[in-house]
Amino acid sequence: NKIYTKVTDQMNFWEGQDPVALAEKYGTPLYVTNERILRQRCRDLKNLVTYPNFVVDYSAKANCGLAFLQIVRSEGLEVDAMSPGEIYMEKKAGFRADQIFYICNNVSAEEMEYAVKEGVVVSVDSLSQLEQFGQIAPGHEVAVRFNPGVGAGHHEKVVTAGKKTKFGIEPKYVPQVKELLEKYDLKLIGINQHIGSLFMTGEAFVASIAALFEIAKQFKGLRFVDMGGGFGIPYKKEFDEAPLDLKELGQAIDKALYKFAEEYGEQITLRIEPGRYISAESNVILSAVHSVKHNHDKKFVGCDCGFNVLQRPIMYDSYHGIEIYRGTEEPSEQTETVTIVGNICESGDILAKDRELPEIRKGDVLGILDAGAYGFTMASNYNNRLRPAEIMIRENGQVVLTREREVLEDLMRHVIPLEEV
Ligand code: LLP
Repeated sequence: NKIYTKVTDQMNFWEGQDPVALAEKYGTPLYVTNERILRQRCRDLKNLVTYPNFVVDYSAKANCGLAFLQIVRSEGLEVDAMSPGEIYMEKKAGFRADQIFYICNNVSAEEMEYAVKEGVVVSVDSLSQLEQFGQIAPGHEVAVRFNPGVGAGHHEKVVTAGKKTKFGIEPKYVPQVKELLEKYDLKLIGINQHIGSLFMTGEAFVASIAALFEIAKQFKGLRFVDMGGGFGIPYKKEFDEAPLDLKELGQAIDKALYKFAEEYGEQITLRIEPGRYISAESNVILSAVHSVKHNHDKKFVGCDCGFNVLQRPIMYDSYHGIEIYRGTEEPSEQTETVTIVGNICESGDILAKDRELPEIRKGDVLGILDAGAYGFTMASNYNNRLRPAEIMIRENGQVVLTREREVLEDLMRHVIPLEEV
């Protein structure tokens, strides 16, 4: 009962489960996590290097589902957080305060206070935020995010270092950082960076860590240096796009780590902070096809996965592989060019443009691949649509519901009607 399933077959994603039956049972759109693949990705990165004081902080912005975080924690990873909401959820998943690293950007004093009260280390990314931190938590431990001038990423919107972004402190301000640390009696325990998201070769990352280590050497007594995330995954697997060469990249990073540790001369923990690599491939969205039509020479397949469910295509022109699942029929040998769209009232609501696929019919179920990173976390209630349910295929093959689909009543939560109009 599978029509076009090369990628999930290769990954054994469905573990013997029938995606059509899952879509029927839990409804669509539906986020499906495969626990085994998630665990494997955690282990891939834990074993990236041989350097002993190495920690993987999973970047929870990519996928902050509670069950998801519980699995990540059980694999021995730590986490970063970008907001009080992420800290809150990470604690619910069982992470201890000392396993959470709060990397904030342009936040209020109250928000910093929340993290400090929760016992979480805060990283600040401007001189004015460092001053603010000093005012609310004098004498405290703190980390600073630098921008070493090297950026990378799949789209201009996700390059987070280099000359054109808002993030980090320029290395030339090291003296001012030191002054503020002294002024407020702060102890700098770590420095961090993040150059951007989705690199498929390691040159920029390796260059950036060399630059970051030069900054680190200007500070004594650091406990850690956090090199950031950005490790890419192949979104075009159906065309056999190669994955990141972790072995080669790991060796290059390892070499840099040993060299730096020796030069630094003190015990130091080196961390990475990947989100996408850990989460993307462990998720497929199931979506039902509700219409197929021709419009001015173009064939459109209309499904229930609008950009309220998956924003990446409209936001970054991102590519996600599409699979087709159907009852018992055999696929037709022939392919055709189709554009797959969602149910949101905007013409930009395009999930996949001009794809060459076997014929898709009304009633088919589509699989939208590699949706575990920046999928559900970027979902919204646009058009007053309800955010989808999430299920997990456990390692033992059992399927569990991990998030209920929203219901109409949820749209009234926090809403206060006027008394009289
Ligand atoms: N650390 C920091 C400070 C970050 O800002 C990010 C992502 C990460 C770690 C994790 O990066 P990753 O390993 O996942 O590439 N919504 C976009 C991606 C935005 C990423 C921004 N920062 C997308 O869907 O492609």
